[in-house]
Amino acid sequence: MLNALVQPLPPIRPDLVVPLPSTRPPPDLDVSLLNGGAATAWANLGDWQDADTYPEAARHLALRLGRAAGLGPGHRVLDVGVGHGEQIRLWTEHFGVASVEGGDRNAEAVRRSRAALVQAGLDARVQVGDGVDLPVAGSSVDRVLALDSAYHLDPRAAFFRTAHHALRPDGRLALTDLVLRSSDDAPPPLLRRLAPFLGVPSGNLITEADYTRSLLEAGFTEPVVEDLSQDVLAGFARWARGAWAGLALRRPLGGWPAVALTGWGAGLAHRRGWVSYVLVTARKGPG
Ligand SMILES: C[S@@+](CC[C@H](N)C(=O)[O-])C[C@H]1O[C@@H](n2cnc3c(N)ncnc32)[C@H](O)[C@@H]1O
Repeated sequence: MLNALVQPLPPIRPDLVVPLPSTRPPPDLDVSLLNGGAATAWANLGDWQDADTYPEAARHLALRLGRAAGLGPGHRVLDVGVGHGEQIRLWTEHFGVASVEGGDRNAEAVRRSRAALVQAGLDARVQVGDGVDLPVAGSSVDRVLALDSAYHLDPRAAFFRTAHHALRPDGRLALTDLVLRSSDDAPPPLLRRLAPFLGVPSGNLITEADYTRSLLEAGFTEPVVEDLSQDVLAGFARWARGAWAGLALRRPLGGWPAVALTGWGAGLAHRRGWVSYVLVTARKGPG
């Protein structure tokens, strides 16, 4: 039995996977399972370039996004898809961010992130809400960030408009996200069928050219797209392949299949060249 559990995850026949007939988003990954024995509650795919453990990789991705955003002392930040708020603490401690407003559609994650942020004594207000239309005052923040959550936002173009409204002139947007790798406008049929399992609306599967066009239409300038697929998708898939048996032992009745499926989906999408995991920045014009 134990022997069976430590074998690599058997290959899943992608053609046999059929999405559930539900439009409800899939449940978020079990953060305590992902973070293992660590006291952290990260939920992103991680940057595995120089990391061996999940919490380390997740932290590295948050730092990489923070550096790309040019976060600095005194900045007011809007963070969309906060999860349990780990990156808010990191950005405050590492970059000297002054205040953070945040939102997430998951009420339990918001409750936990509020508790953690109050305990850390940070100036952060987190609300339950959909990231596409969070009620944020116009020109009120210096940076808008979304760490591994923008591909969930439906429609993503509405989120771009909300972000543009919230930013002060010359403010910056920084996201990690997914784009279709092929120049073909339509996602491969199998990817379209798998995407709902990973919480990605099929309308969000667009090419880099359409993605940057959508940013420009929302009023942004200077879009820059950096490909992190190898560090993120391949890295998370590798980790999930090695970790699933241990996770299954810890949570035999649940939690681990979603992590294994996410790892498998990330690896498949990367190997087949369907999508790229990207770090995107753009600027609001001087106004
Ligand atoms: C992969 S997790 C990342 C969480 C966190 N940023 C981190 O790095 O640990 C994605 C988060 O986006 C949130 N989310 C998904 N769809 C959303 C939506 N429409 N509006 C706001 N948040 C959303 C989920 O609840 C989840 O907390």
